[in-house]
Amino acid sequence: MSNIDKNKLPVHIGFIMDGNGRWAQKRGLPRKMGHREGASAFRRIARYCKKIGIKYITFYAFSTENWKRPADEVNELMRLFKEYLDEVEKYAEDKTRLIFLGDKSAFGREMAEKMTQLEESSRDFDEMTLMLAMNYGGRDDIVHAIKRIVSMSDSKEISCSDINESLVSSLLYTGGIPDVDLIIRPSGEKRISNFLIWQSAYAELYFTDTLWPDFTANELDKALADFAERSRRFGGV
Ligand code: FPP
Repeated sequence: MSNIDKNKLPVHIGFIMDGNGRWAQKRGLPRKMGHREGASAFRRIARYCKKIGIKYITFYAFSTENWKRPADEVNELMRLFKEYLDEVEKYAEDKTRLIFLGDKSAFGREMAEKMTQLEESSRDFDEMTLMLAMNYGGRDDIVHAIKRIVSMSDSKEISCSDINESLVSSLLYTGGIPDVDLIIRPSGEKRISNFLIWQSAYAELYFTDTLWPDFTANELDKALADFAERSRRFGGV
């Protein structure tokens, strides 16, 4: 990291944690073992981002489509999420703000309450904000915002002329958080898969063949060096 100009670091990085299943299959292990290793990579990369001063990080942990996976795999992911929620609760001194993107109610009352409580208790931490996209879909995020706009319109809080991009942005699950600057997708796939679709309008994309469980700080440094070289014009010249 030492040779990257701090001013050229992204403010907000999104990670699509892909390749866990293949990591396990390559070793003759059940897919869920890949998720376990993936959860370790998540902790490792979150810690490293904090160390180097990244302000906002978002991890795609579970999509609105992932419920279709075999029960055994979904159960293991839920177990990993619960384990992490307990861990965060114990280590509040980590001073990281936590936000969950997506409809929490799908995780059941107990877990949803814990998620809300962690968001509330970490609200004032400003060193780094960690967002976990869980039961998240970019299209669902936009539909959710549209429903809120319609209900605000029904109650005469807003009229048609008040609807603009900044209103929509503010009503997404990421309301108030800067748009993502860099999206990193490991495992060789080159698509966005319904992750932060509105928020990534001007994001730089970085793809690598490394599988997520093998993703290291060194690999992130490579992505950051690549990002620092890009010329971002946001539609200008
Ligand atoms: C996609 O890889 C990955 C997921 C659907 C789950 C990602 C979740 C984790 C890494 C756990 C995170 C844990 C915490 C505590 C936040 P895949 O299984 O589809 O990979 P494949 O394409 O190789 O099959």
